[in-house]
Amino acid sequence: MNKLVDVKNMSITFKRKQALEAVDCYLEQGEVVGLVGPNGAGKTTLMKAIVGFIPISKGGIQKARDISIEVLIEKPGLYPFLSGLDHLQLFVEDQKTTEIDRVISLLNMNEFIGKKTKEYSLGMKQRLGIALALLNRPQVVILDEPMNGLDPYSVKLLKEAITTYRKIGTTFLISSHILSELEQLVDRVLLLKAGRVIENIEHPELLENFEDDLLAKLT
Ligand SMILES: Nc1ncnc2c1ncn2[C@@H]1O[C@H](COP(=O)(O)OP(=O)(O)OP(=O)(O)O)[C@@H](O)[C@H]1O
Ligand SMILES: [Mg+2]
Repeated sequence: MNKLVDVKNMSITFKRKQALEAVDCYLEQGEVVGLVGPNGAGKTTLMKAIVGFIPISKGGIQKARDISIEVLIEKPGLYPFLSGLDHLQLFVEDQKTTEIDRVISLLNMNEFIGKKTKEYSLGMKQRLGIALALLNRPQVVILDEPMNGLDPYSVKLLKEAITTYRKIGTTFLISSHILSELEQLVDRVLLLKAGRVIENIEHPELLENFEDDLLAKLT
């Protein structure tokens, strides 16, 4: 077992609101983990804490040494007057143009990649945000509701991209409200409810009915 991220007894409080309470969870190398829970359960907060965007009130997170983590939380921050290609060229490490071509083709962005991002639709921005997260082949990719705004064809491309990167050892943490989109994609599911991890489902493929079974556990 190679835990890249190990969250231990972590609590996060915003002023009076306790967003996460004594959370224990981990990410192992090469797995795709789904993060599921109702609005306000603490999914985004957990993701932000793992990346270090917000302070931890209690407990902590152990991360593998020199780990690289990329994240797409809510909507991507893009420069309106730069094109998608400009963004990829700006953020790619070591001028790896093959990696740029790879993400453009994986997310089928050829048609719009040369346009300024202020002209992008929601789904185009989302795809560019995902591409930027994958671009430098980080060890861990955290995607907060990445299917938001994507048409069914783009959802399919994203799932294929995740599978492709998983094969080269990339670890994913992915939240989604549309449970069916996580089916047959995730190796494990974390259920979050009112700031607590209420279940760690090791073999979600064994659930009789993925969607209904997860919903039943959350209610
Ligand atoms: N900056 C903040 N200040 C105060 N409270 C916050 C802040 N961010 C989040 N919260 C609260 O923490 C709780 C968890 O929020 P979070 O955004 O993590 O939920 P979520 O599971 O991502 O929900 P959603 O499905 O709607 O995205 C909520 O009760 C929310 O109101
Ligand atoms: Mg959220």
